[in-house]
Amino acid sequence: MKLTYLGHAVVYIETQGFKGIIDPFLRGNGMCPRLPEDFKELDYIFVTHGHADHLGDTVELAKATSARVVANAEIIDYLRKQGLENLHAMHIGGKFKTDFGFVKMTPALHGSGINHRGEMIYGGNPGGFLLEIEGIRIYHAGDTGLTLDMKLLEKEKIHVAFLPVGGNYTMDMADAAIGVGFIKPRVVIPIHYDTFEVIAANPEIFRALVKDARVVVLDPGEAYEIPQESI
Ligand code: NI
Ligand code: MN
Repeated sequence: MKLTYLGHAVVYIETQGFKGIIDPFLRGNGMCPRLPEDFKELDYIFVTHGHADHLGDTVELAKATSARVVANAEIIDYLRKQGLENLHAMHIGGKFKTDFGFVKMTPALHGSGINHRGEMIYGGNPGGFLLEIEGIRIYHAGDTGLTLDMKLLEKEKIHVAFLPVGGNYTMDMADAAIGVGFIKPRVVIPIHYDTFEVIAANPEIFRALVKDARVVVLDPGEAYEIPQESI
């Protein structure tokens, strides 16, 4: 399994039988080395919440690739009005089984409004995703502050956790390091930093703060491959 970080909160997941992207903020994301048209095939798009830096290019990507979009019910309702049809609505705490494994929506402490042509539309509650793909568990926290709920993820035996570390809108590095202690993933990959000045962070400081997992720092465009022998 190959996990490519595309800057901000964008994660592209690839296996032989599965292609998915989380929070596809591509255009307008100065950190992202890819554009929507670079994705010819996509099975799934996961959207953690309605903010523009996460909903991003979902509509364009889904129209071009026919990927199924998974998000909370309010965002799915909005996307249906934008002309999308291959949609899966779910909500916090809910889990559904799929051809590739399962998707569970986890809580996040944040907002989820959708900015539609300058007007803020209700986007339900923000979340994160626990994905099991071909037996490997990945957690993408979305945008969130530190929460005790993260302790509930320890039992999920998460292989790779993507956690926001940039502060201001989400956990900063110190809080994210505490989160790692709750979640206990094997590997943690910091996201949601350096895109804007207000979320500048040095991931090497995060690396030094984390005691409970291996920290993998990826540059935008760089991938982490889960070694076959460690699965
Ligand atoms: Ni947000
Ligand atoms: Mn964000």
